[in-house]
Amino acid sequence: MDVVKTKNLNKDFFLGKTKIRALIDINISVEKGEFLAIAGPSGSGKTTLLNLIGCIDLPTSGIIRIDSIDTNRLSSNELANLRASKIGFIFQSFNLIPVFSALENVEYPLFKKKKNKKERKEIVMKALEDVGIEKFAKHKPDELSGGQRQRVAIARALVTNPKIILADEPTANLDQKTGATILDIMKKINEEHKTVFIFSTHDSKIMSMANRIIRIRDGAIISREV
Ligand SMILES: Nc1ncnc2c1ncn2[C@@H]1O[C@H](COP(=O)(O)OP(=O)(O)O)[C@@H](O)[C@H]1O
Ligand SMILES: [Mg+2]
Repeated sequence: MDVVKTKNLNKDFFLGKTKIRALIDINISVEKGEFLAIAGPSGSGKTTLLNLIGCIDLPTSGIIRIDSIDTNRLSSNELANLRASKIGFIFQSFNLIPVFSALENVEYPLFKKKKNKKERKEIVMKALEDVGIEKFAKHKPDELSGGQRQRVAIARALVTNPKIILADEPTANLDQKTGATILDIMKKINEEHKTVFIFSTHDSKIMSMANRIIRIRDGAIISREV
């Protein structure tokens, strides 16, 4: 059973009257437990594709199915609920809330769920432990290194126990060694929780850590490698 499926996905942007075909007929099936890299140079459509899969943006045409749910049929409210319950996001620039501690950043997605304070604290501390950063729970983002910030962001993505975590160039702002550590943490979570990870990268060392690679260029898939 596919956790993510896209059929003939197209996305056009308009700059004035100029049409940019950001994605062209993208067909992807992602199964439970996959650790998949979307690889391509800058401007190839990686962010656009992850934003469509994550229901942050809508396609120009084509179908996106998340956990067998046809997202075209959903209202914007239903899409928001689907996103909150099934999808976690990790971004290149971490996107943490600067005035919140690590603990509060990770706690934030849980406010949409009906959990009391004690339950929230337990779940948050478990997520911080999963990424090896529980000692820094009270630190604010500017008191953490890049690698530590990205660990907090992984914990935040993980805390709702989503089926899918989307990571858009999660290592692009990190040095090579820290980036590889971040990938190792993602892989460990993938194996333990069976969470699907789809991450984008243009770094060949990082893409080699995936179980499967889909390469895109100029908005189209150019190859698939296992
Ligand atoms: N909001 C937008 N408006 C216009 N063009 C866009 C927009 N977002 C992306 N694009 C264009 O779509 C193409 C793919 O962009 P993107 O998905 O950001 O690539 P990548 O993440 O691989 O660098 C590029 O040509 C980019 O300029
Ligand atoms: Mg991008």
